[in-house]
Amino acid sequence: MTMDLDAQAVGILRDNDRGGYTVPTSGLYPYQWNWDSAFAALGFATFDRDRAWRELEDLISAQWSDGMVPHIIFWQSDPGYFPGPEVWGTKAAPPSSGYSQPPVATTALRWLFESGPQAEGEPRLRALFPQLLRWHRWLHTARDPDRLGIIAIAHPWESGRDNLPDWDLPMAQVDISGVGEYHRRDTAHVEAAMRPQKADYDRYLAIIYFARDHGWDAETIAKQGPFWVADVGMTAILLRADRDLLALAQSLGEPAAAAEISGWIERAEAGFDRLWHPDLQAYCSLDLRTGRRADGITSATMLAFYAGVPLGDRAGLLHGHLERWWHKARYGVPSFDPDHRAFDSIRYWRGPVWPNMNFLIARGLADSGHGDLAARVDGDTRALIETSGFFEYFCSRTGRGCGGTDFSWTAAVWLALGASGDARRSVA
Ligand code: GLC
Repeated sequence: MTMDLDAQAVGILRDNDRGGYTVPTSGLYPYQWNWDSAFAALGFATFDRDRAWRELEDLISAQWSDGMVPHIIFWQSDPGYFPGPEVWGTKAAPPSSGYSQPPVATTALRWLFESGPQAEGEPRLRALFPQLLRWHRWLHTARDPDRLGIIAIAHPWESGRDNLPDWDLPMAQVDISGVGEYHRRDTAHVEAAMRPQKADYDRYLAIIYFARDHGWDAETIAKQGPFWVADVGMTAILLRADRDLLALAQSLGEPAAAAEISGWIERAEAGFDRLWHPDLQAYCSLDLRTGRRADGITSATMLAFYAGVPLGDRAGLLHGHLERWWHKARYGVPSFDPDHRAFDSIRYWRGPVWPNMNFLIARGLADSGHGDLAARVDGDTRALIETSGFFEYFCSRTGRGCGGTDFSWTAAVWLALGASGDARRSVA
C-alpha cells in the first residue's frame, strides 16, 4: 500500500514536471507557483536531488530587478488559466505575476544543502545566495516599510492562503467599480462550492488592477494599495526562512550578510508580538490600514513554533486551540477555527486541511520539543492521503479530497514525510 503510494507520488511529480519546474496540478494551475515549488523540491530531494535544485533555481531565476520573487511564473502561455500574464501587465521577463509568496524556498534550500554532499551543494548555493538575500531584503523593506517587524501582504494571494476569512473585512473596502466583465476558468476545473465566490474574485482583480495601473511600484502599493494586511503566515515563514538564510550565510562565510539577516531576525522577534490578539489568545492578522485585527484564528497561528518565536505561556494556549480544533473537526489542522461562524470545511482556505501547511506546522512543533503533537499532525496528513489520495487539500470533517487532483505538494509532502523509507529507496 505504502509502496504504491510512494510510487504514485513520484509519478505525480514526474508527470507535473515541465522540465526544470513543476506545475501544482495540470489544468487548474498550469504554471510555476512559488511556494509550491519549495514543496516540490523537498519531494524531488527524496529521489532526484539534481531535479530538486533545478526547481529552486528556475524559481529564483524569475526574480525581478528589485529583488521580488514572483508568486506565479508564466513560462508558457495556457488559455486554461485566468488571470494570465496579459491581465497582470508586469512586463517582467519571464512573464510573471506581480506579488510574491511566503519564502519556504529558502528553508527548502537549507534542507537540500545540508542533507547532501558539500561538493554538490556549495557551488549551487553560492550562486543562489545573493538572490535569496535580495528577496528577503525586498520582503523586509517593500512589505514592511515602517520597520514594524511584521510583514504585509498586498493581495490575499501573496499569503498563499488565498481565501481566508481574515481577508473578508479588508477586502470589503476594495472598490470594484472598474473591474468589468471577465471569464473565470477555475470553476471549469473544480466544483464551485470549493472555490472563492465572485465577490471575492472581483476584489482580487481590482487589487491587481490598482498595482498594474501604478506600474507595480512597491512604494505606491505600500502607501496607497487597496489591501495591506500584516499576515501571520508570511511573517512566521519569513522569520523561519531568515534563520535558515543566516545558517547558510554562516556556512558560506558571509559575515556582512549574516549581520544584516540577524538584524531582521531581531526585529521580527520583537514585532511578532504585535500580532497577538489578547481576546482570542492567538496570533492573528492585522489590517494595517484600519488597525483592525482579524476576529478568527487560522492555522498560521500554529506557525509561531516554526518561526521559533519565544512563546512562554503562549505555547500552552496555542496547544489548547489545537486540541479544541481536533475535538471539533476530525482531521487536523483545519486552516480556520472550526468554532467560528465563517468556518467551511471544504471551501478554499476557510476550514479544510492543507498538506503543505500541516508539513510546516509539524516541523515547527517537532523542532520546539512537541514531538507528540507533530506526530499527530503528520499522522493526519498521512491518513488523509492514504484514504483519499493526492488531492490539493481535504475536508476537515470527512477527509474527502478537494480541489485539484494529482497535486504536486501533496505528493511531495508524502515523500518528504518518508512514510516508508524502505519503499522510498526502492522507488528511487
Ligand atoms: C492557490 C493556493 C496557493 C497555491 C496555488 C497553486 O492559489 O491558494 O497557495 O500556491 O493555488 O497551488
